[in-house]
Amino acid sequence: MARTSAGSGAPGAQQGAGGRSFYVTTPIYYPSGRLHIGHAYTTVAADFIARYKRLCGFDTRFLTGTDEHGIKMQRAAAKAGLSPQAFADRAYAEIADLWRTLEISYDDFIRTTEPRHQRSVQTIFERVRERGDIYKGVYEGWYCADCESFFLARQLVDGKCPDCGRQVELLAEEAYFFRLSNYADRLLRHIDEHPEFIQPPSRRNEMISFVRSGLEDLCVSRTSFNWGIPVPGDPKHVIYVWFDALSNYITALGYGSDDELFDRYWPADVHLMGKEIVRFHSVIWPIILMALDLPLPKQVFGHGWLVLGGEKISKSRGNVIDPQVLVQKYGLDAVRYFLLREVPFVADGNYSEDALVRRTNTDLANDLGNLLQRTLAMVERFAAGRVPEPESLDDPARPLAAAANDALSAYEQHLDRLELANALGAVLGLVNRANKYIEEQSPWDLAKNPAGAVRLRNVLYDLLETLRVSAVLLAPALTRAPGEILRQIGWDGDLSELRLPQAARFGQLQPGRPISRGGPLFPRIETEDQTNGEGPAAEKTAGQQTPRITIDEFRRLDLRIARVVAADRVAGADRLLRLRVQLGEGERQIVAGVAAHYRPEDMVGKDIVVVANLEPAKIRGLASDGMLLAATGGGKLVLIAPEAPVPPGARVS
Ligand code: MSP
Repeated sequence: MARTSAGSGAPGAQQGAGGRSFYVTTPIYYPSGRLHIGHAYTTVAADFIARYKRLCGFDTRFLTGTDEHGIKMQRAAAKAGLSPQAFADRAYAEIADLWRTLEISYDDFIRTTEPRHQRSVQTIFERVRERGDIYKGVYEGWYCADCESFFLARQLVDGKCPDCGRQVELLAEEAYFFRLSNYADRLLRHIDEHPEFIQPPSRRNEMISFVRSGLEDLCVSRTSFNWGIPVPGDPKHVIYVWFDALSNYITALGYGSDDELFDRYWPADVHLMGKEIVRFHSVIWPIILMALDLPLPKQVFGHGWLVLGGEKISKSRGNVIDPQVLVQKYGLDAVRYFLLREVPFVADGNYSEDALVRRTNTDLANDLGNLLQRTLAMVERFAAGRVPEPESLDDPARPLAAAANDALSAYEQHLDRLELANALGAVLGLVNRANKYIEEQSPWDLAKNPAGAVRLRNVLYDLLETLRVSAVLLAPALTRAPGEILRQIGWDGDLSELRLPQAARFGQLQPGRPISRGGPLFPRIETEDQTNGEGPAAEKTAGQQTPRITIDEFRRLDLRIARVVAADRVAGADRLLRLRVQLGEGERQIVAGVAAHYRPEDMVGKDIVVVANLEPAKIRGLASDGMLLAATGGGKLVLIAPEAPVPPGARVS
C-alpha cells in the first residue's frame, strides 16, 4: 500500500501519486425516491472535506454513488411502470443534476448496476467463499408473499407482516451465509486499538456493545427477487444488497482489476454517513475486508440527522425538503453555508427555512458582506481605490495578522476532527475581529490627520488581507463568494492553485493593485415579515434584551426623511406595498410590509423616516432600496413621521 498518514495542512504537500492521498466517500444513496436536504447534507459535508484536502495539497479522491439493487428498487420501478434499469437510469440523471446544482466536486460516481461494480462484487463474493467464510445453508424466516420479504420473528407486528399487516408463513429456503462470528474478536481488537476508527465516540461505544453482544452469521443472498447481482455459479441467488452496496468503496477503485488505482487510495481515510448506517459500516464492512485480507478504512464517521420538528427528514416520513428549490430561492453559497455551519456535525439539528435566512443574513450578509463593503469603500475613499502599501510591520496596533494565524490553526484542528461547523465558526470569528478592528481604529478619523497616514495604510491593508485569508479558508465550503471576494480586493491569482497553509500567511496582497468594488456579496434576504418589524425584529419585544450598541454603530445608520410620491400593492403579496419615495437627491423604490395597515392612497404625500443606507434587497422579485420606520404595538403598526415639516432628505439623528 503506497500510503502515508493523512494529517492536514503540512507544508510541502505534493499533488500526484507520489504525494499523500486522501480518500473520502459518502453512502451510495437509494434512488428509489427523490433525494432531499438530508442527502445533500452528507454530500455537501463530504465535498467540503474533499475540497479542503485538495487545498492542503492531498491527492484527493471523493466518491459518491447510487445503490440501485434490491426489492425496493424493483417495486418502485414497477409502480412507475418502468424496468428497474430504466427507473434507475432516470433517478441517476436527477441525482447527478442535483450534485451539479450543489457543485459537488466528486471524482467518481459509482452506480451498483455498472458492469465494473458487478464484476468486482462477484470477485469479492468468490474470494470470500473460497476462503470458507461464505457457506450455503438454510434460511428460515417468516415470509410475506405480498411483500415478497422475509422477516425475523421479532420483526413481526402482532404475528403479521410489519410492512403490510398481512399473514406471514414460516418458510425455509436455501441461502448463503457469511461467517461474521469468526471475526468478532478481531474486530473488537481493531476497534480497541484504533480509537479513531469509529467516530464520534458515542457511536464507537454503541458499536462495541453491539459486537460484544455476539454476532450471528449474516444471510448474504436472496432468492425471493432477482434485481441484484447473481451469485457466481449459482444465479438463482442474488447477492444481499448490503454486501453489494458496501463493496462500492473498493469496486470504484478497481478492486480486482486496477491495482494501481486501488493501491493509490485504499484504505479510505473516511467513510462519511448518517448515524443509522454506522453499524453496517463498522461491522459487516470491516469483516468483508478482513476476509479479503485488506486493510480497514481509517475512519467510519456517523454524523447526526437533520430533523424537522423533532423527526428525521426522510422519504418515508414525507417531510422532505428539495435542495434544488432552496438553491433557486437563496443561492448556492447560502444553502451550502447553512448546511455546514448551522448544526454541529455530530449532533442532530433542526432544519428550518427561517434558520437558513437568519444564518445567511447574520454571517454572510452582515458580518462577511459588510466587512467587504466597508473595507472596499474605505480603500476607494482613502487610498484611491488601490491596495495601499503597508509600513512598519511591527506596529503594535496590527493584531489581525495574529488573529488570522490563530483562525487558521483553529480551522485546521477542527477540520481534522470533522468539526465542520466549528471550522467555519473560526473563519467568521476572524471576520468579526476585523469588523471590530474597524471600530477600534476608526479609519475615518485617521484620515483627517496627516499624522495618521501610515496607520491608515496599515489598517486598510490588514483589512484587505483578512478578507483574503477568510476567502481562502471559506473556499472549500462556498463555491462562489470566495472567488468574488478575491477579485474585488484586487487579487488576480488562480484559487485552484493555492495551497494551505502557505496561502493563509498574512501579507501576500500586492500593494498598488486596483480593487474593484462590486455589488453586495450576499444581499440581505428580506422576508415579508421582516420588511416592517413584524418578523424576527419584532420578536424581540417580548421582554428580550437587545444588545447595546456604541454611538459609532448608531452613526452608521443613515436615517432620512422621505416623501412618498407613489404607492401600489404588490401582486400576490397581501402585506406588501411598493413605494416610490423622494429622498432629496432623487427617488428610489422601497417595498414595505405595511399593506395590512395602510392603503396605497393613504401613503402618497406622507413624509416618513427611512433607513437610507440599508443593503438593497429583493423582495418578491422587486428591488427594495431602504426601509421605512414604523412602530408596532397593541396590534397596530404606525408610521414614524416628523412632527413638523422638513424637506425630504433631511437627516434624522
Ligand atoms: N443505500 C444505503 C447506503 C449504502 S452505503 C454502502 C442508504 N441509502 S439512503 O438513500 O437511505 O441514504 C442514507 C444516508 O443519507 C444517510 O446515512 C445520510 O448520510 C443521508 N441522510 C438521509 N437523510 C438524512 C437526514 N435527515 N439527515 C442527515 N443525513 C441524512 O442508506
